[in-house]
Amino acid sequence: MAKALIMLVRLAAVVSIVLGVLLWSGSQNYLGAHIGSGFFIAGVVFVLSILGILKKAVVPGVVGVILAALLPVVGFKQLPLAYRAFGAVQIIHVLVALAIIGVAESLYGAIRRA
Ligand code: HEM
Repeated sequence: MAKALIMLVRLAAVVSIVLGVLLWSGSQNYLGAHIGSGFFIAGVVFVLSILGILKKAVVPGVVGVILAALLPVVGFKQLPLAYRAFGAVQIIHVLVALAIIGVAESLYGAIRRA
């Protein structure tokens, strides 16, 4: 179960990063797909976090739940699109997105070891 979930996170992360960069560079056609893949990651990480908490990985589990809630909030704060902007909100968005992937990896490791 955890193995399938982390593979989904990895796949969706690659898709989100590619679509995010395309979006940032001016192709607003990818907005819906990027937001969809972002919500998908948030949902899968939420499930991994609950599994982690059940397997006593409480700290990464709680961090995972917080980041899963924060990612869409920070993502939507970038609207309306201001192409090639690289202000605080864009930097925070990328940091939260990378952090959620890191937490997903550590949750997967903790669940596997448990
Ligand atoms: C619900 C979740 C998400 C929402 C609502 C969202 C929304 C957005 C929006 C609106 C932009 C365009 C910003 C601009 O052009 O100024 C953007 C850019 C970007 N997103 Fe996301 N995103 C989400 C999740 C993710 C995830 C999971 C990743 C990576 C794993 C990601 C990576 C990026 C990158 C690399 C960019 C381009 C750099 C930037 O402008 O910040 N996003 N996102």
